Amino acid sequence: MRFLLSAIFVVLVGTAQAQQAADAVEPEAAGIGAFESLPADMAAALDAKEAGRPVVASDWMVAAANPLAVKAGADVLAAGGTAADALVAVQVVLGLVEPQSSGLGGGAFLVWYDAATGDVITLDGRETAPLAATPRLFQDPEGEPLKFFDAVVGGRSVGTPGTPALLAEIHRRWGTQEWGSLLEPALTLAQDGFTVSPRLAKLVEEDLERLAISPVASAYFMPDGEAIKAGATLKNPAYAATLKAFAEQGATVFYGGKIGHDIVATVQNAENAGVLSDVDLAIYQVKEREAICAPYRGHEVCGMGPPSSGAVAVGQILAALEGYDLSAGPQDLNVRRLMGDAARLAFADRGRYLADSDYVPVPVTGLLDPAYLAGRAALLDSEMALEEVSAGEPTWDHAMIWADDESIELPSTSHISIVDSMGNVASMTTTIENGFGSRLMVGGFLLNNELTDFSFRSHKDGIPVANRVEPGKRPRSSMAPTIVMKDGKPVMAVGSPGGSRIIGYVTQVIVAVIDWGLDVQQAVSLPHAVNRFGTYDLEQDTPSVELSDGLTTMGFEVATRGLTSGLHVIAIGDDLRGGADPRREGIAFGR
Ligand code: GLY
Repeated sequence: MRFLLSAIFVVLVGTAQAQQAADAVEPEAAGIGAFESLPADMAAALDAKEAGRPVVASDWMVAAANPLAVKAGADVLAAGGTAADALVAVQVVLGLVEPQSSGLGGGAFLVWYDAATGDVITLDGRETAPLAATPRLFQDPEGEPLKFFDAVVGGRSVGTPGTPALLAEIHRRWGTQEWGSLLEPALTLAQDGFTVSPRLAKLVEEDLERLAISPVASAYFMPDGEAIKAGATLKNPAYAATLKAFAEQGATVFYGGKIGHDIVATVQNAENAGVLSDVDLAIYQVKEREAICAPYRGHEVCGMGPPSSGAVAVGQILAALEGYDLSAGPQDLNVRRLMGDAARLAFADRGRYLADSDYVPVPVTGLLDPAYLAGRAALLDSEMALEEVSAGEPTWDHAMIWADDESIELPSTSHISIVDSMGNVASMTTTIENGFGSRLMVGGFLLNNELTDFSFRSHKDGIPVANRVEPGKRPRSSMAPTIVMKDGKPVMAVGSPGGSRIIGYVTQVIVAVIDWGLDVQQAVSLPHAVNRFGTYDLEQDTPSVELSDGLTTMGFEVATRGLTSGLHVIAIGDDLRGGADPRREGIAFGR
């Protein structure tokens, strides 16, 4: 009865409560002191985020994880550049000021809305496994999986970086500004020094032991043996030299030139050495892939297909929810039951079927087939959590039998959303995987540990895992850069870091805007409750924890923890409205 009364109450005040819950997240210290050199209008954008208001603009907008990176993109857009130009400028600054999350040593996925053609295009700049890698890459001599950080730290986990090639391809397709000019702001910051943000300083402090594997990373992040401090000025001459070479020689300098050779030498000579070679870099390709679009309440939610699991999982969750009324809002137990179990069903499929479709057949059509999803959605017609959840049996042309994947994904990564004055939209999630990646540093940037997104177990009881390591294959991702379309026009760009929780973070923003009527800043600030087919994770120190007893009674295993999403969202309508995650240091800014 108590739950019934509370459900009725929440139905009555659903949107108001969603609003209150959104307001209740205390922003992590955003470090305004670290960015005091920002122009007044950008400082106002930071104030708007802290006050929980969306940033509003009429012409263009950029939202990303650090104000210095946003400024670089904003300057490009203000000068008439495209979202593609701005993306290049933002990414190379992020690689300097937020080096732990993404950069030239990593990979990224782009979802692009082309205003001239009305097309949604996706580009895959994911890292690849070296040709010399085998399914045993992350196993000990007995075939048992290595411990996570024994696999991560060092050369073994480094895949062929895709980000330099992706940036060059983005610029080749849609850029209008001179290439070198887009690298200039980052180059200047690297040469003259940038202000270390509180988040970077804190994360370095927490990672000193692992960073010690690389003398180069140690010298950079611990000059004079002391971890860098928030507010200090940090110069990165090696990164400036890399950007100069990138400006002059283009991506070739990575995929056949000096920087590429330096990457290979660093990986092969590191402790826990890897097998990356010059050939892996020479044959690297950015791949255009078909956008995966899933319907939700009159919208089309478009994102990145395999090797990402992002768009398929987000699409499956939304499809399972579409037949249910979610209007009671995020504090309603039944709404959370539906969202949690829809996610569990999608994650069961993801663990079985999602991998690089250039290497293994993936039943994308079957997994998003309305008839299949109707069957999955019907399972949610209950008052209690599902007792058992397992992968379904979508129809497909292959009689494959896969064992479930066992990859471990810890939160890291970064997301950039941009709208330009021509109406192009870019939604790019970018990563070096774990915070500080493999910890190896070369040319002023960190190398990824993306290969640990593969399943460490290659087989179970003789049955292969779809996401096992194979030479040249791309590890399965959870990154979910998304563009939401309505009537053929983009209405929202959204994405987040957060490992496999990205899927829950992005889904919640879409539901918050479409079902709960929240603005983008409220949607981003909303407390999280995320289920990945394990515990139902409730965001600590937020109203989400009030759901704990009720969800436990329903049969979920519940945990309370910090859930540091990094959502950057732009809603596109009569004007542009941006939201930036209060859990991180970014802003949305436009004019
Ligand atoms: N390494 C984060 C992801 O690709 O999901």
